[in-house]
Amino acid sequence: MTRILVTGGAGFIGSHLCERLVEQGDDVLCVDNYFTGNKRNISHLLNRSNFELMRHDITFPLYVEVDEIYNLACPASPIHYQHDPVQTTKTSVHGAINMLGLAKRVKAKIMQASTSEVYGDPEIHPQLESYWGRVNPIGIRSCYDEGKRCAETLFFDYRRQHNLRIKVVRIFNTYGPRMHPNDGRVVSNFIVQALRGDAITIYGDGSQSRSFCYVDDLIDVSSFFLMRQNQRV
Ligand SMILES: NC(=O)c1ccc[n+]([C@@H]2O[C@H](COP(=O)([O-])OP(=O)(O)OC[C@H]3O[C@@H](n4cnc5c(N)ncnc54)[C@H](O)[C@@H]3O)[C@@H](O)[C@H]2O)c1
Repeated sequence: MTRILVTGGAGFIGSHLCERLVEQGDDVLCVDNYFTGNKRNISHLLNRSNFELMRHDITFPLYVEVDEIYNLACPASPIHYQHDPVQTTKTSVHGAINMLGLAKRVKAKIMQASTSEVYGDPEIHPQLESYWGRVNPIGIRSCYDEGKRCAETLFFDYRRQHNLRIKVVRIFNTYGPRMHPNDGRVVSNFIVQALRGDAITIYGDGSQSRSFCYVDDLIDVSSFFLMRQNQRV
């Protein structure tokens, strides 16, 4: 059994990842401080012998023995990450330092849930990984954008300096069951407006493009899954 730590496991994406890993037969430790997550999201896993839940804030060190770490803990929508911006930066930066330190100590593989927001207000569409982005370091979104960018830096420096086995996934707008209905994001807005029979709001002239990903596809075909495949090779 692979022992896997999922931080932010009681959140939207984290709960789907925990579900998948439990089904695969892995030994899953879900850690969450319930800032935006909820025990309801993983209540159906609580009676599984290969699932364990721990309340913990990843801005503080964590001492556990695991083989893999999926670091998802971080509020994801502007409403949530701007509520306490200092804590948002701490979660990304101190959280990454704590999780990378843990991975180094126990020689675990570690994955970081990064974001398309690392491109900031991009000049090119769609964004390629070779593009470094255009990010405001002092704006109200900076706590999230710069926090995630710093986390990416830490991940790559831990790889260069300590040979850590890392993966960084830049997730774009993901939707599906257990997403937050009132987080002000485009898909949740559309669905809530449609359910209420309200007109659907399109900002600007409607010519903008966005990238949407269904949560099962993210878990299936993204690097989440690649991380597991690599291990089996
Ligand atoms: N949903 C998306 O479209 C999307 C897009 C890009 C990136 N991401 C990233 O994916 C990850 C998961 O996003 P989500 O949509 O599931 O959001 P979410 O808010 O549902 O989940 C985040 C979880 O992290 C927990 N958390 C927050 N701060 C914590 C801390 N300090 N210690 C422990 N737990 C903490 C929350 O309680 C919550 O359960 C985040 O890192 C986010 O930045 C998501």
